Amino acid sequence: MSQTPFADILQDARARRYAVPAFNAWTYQDALALVAAAERARSPLIVQTSGTCIRHNGLALSFQMVKKAVRSAKVPVAVHLDHGEDRRLICDAIHMGYDSVMYDGSKLPVDTNIENTRIIKAVAEAYGVSVEAEIGHVVKGAGDAEVLTAPDDALRFLAATRVDALAVAVGTRHGMQTQDAPLRLDALDALSAAVEVPLVLHGSSGVSDAELPTVARSAVCKVNIATRLRTVFIRALGEEAATYTGSDHIAFVMRAHEATIREATMIMELLGSANRC
Ligand code: G3H
Ligand code: ZN
Repeated sequence: MSQTPFADILQDARARRYAVPAFNAWTYQDALALVAAAERARSPLIVQTSGTCIRHNGLALSFQMVKKAVRSAKVPVAVHLDHGEDRRLICDAIHMGYDSVMYDGSKLPVDTNIENTRIIKAVAEAYGVSVEAEIGHVVKGAGDAEVLTAPDDALRFLAATRVDALAVAVGTRHGMQTQDAPLRLDALDALSAAVEVPLVLHGSSGVSDAELPTVARSAVCKVNIATRLRTVFIRALGEEAATYTGSDHIAFVMRAHEATIREATMIMELLGSANRC
């Protein structure tokens, strides 16, 4: 199965009312662990690389390591560029073979966001690559102000850009290490009723386990989670370090990744994506 078009993965999620986890990878071993989790849960998967990964590894290596890790996956996997803000970089990713790209113009005035997204969509379409974009703004850092997504703005944005997936702001924020984001399920319901394209929830590390299944049954088809898995991995590394006496550092890292695999598998159960393939 392995690499599967992003649009097909989201379409199945929408039709069968579950959400696909989109996890970030920074290393080849991260990507291997994510694939192992998806195979264990029999879940479709989106593996994404964002700015931090690309700053460390460069775009080409970021893509190649994920592509190699997913190549013989026994479940459908799409390779996605997360939070692209630079149009040049996004075009390079499209040429390189990413299945899908996110253009994130959410900090820009809406009309500029629309204009830039239209350009990216035109290039991506010519290469058969799907596009995710964001309207409203999911907080990324200190001093950053949330802009909740209004259904009318979402509809105007979609009519103008025809993107394949729409990231919306409904109370989550990036980088939370506690699962108590003030999720606005009322706002999500309103968007789910108004919009027909698959929605994407960013900053989902802050969403409680009790709310994840509700999110997954809404129009949200892609749930982005990064910090939660990083936190689990770092904690597991610390625990491994306290007892590991060998010198095989790859084996050591992969032992810590067992915790990532278990956490990712549990998230797949919560999102209803487990046992779908
Ligand atoms: O694009 C990636 C995500 O939105 C991840 O956010 O680190 O808060 O889970 P998170
Ligand atoms: Zn995000």
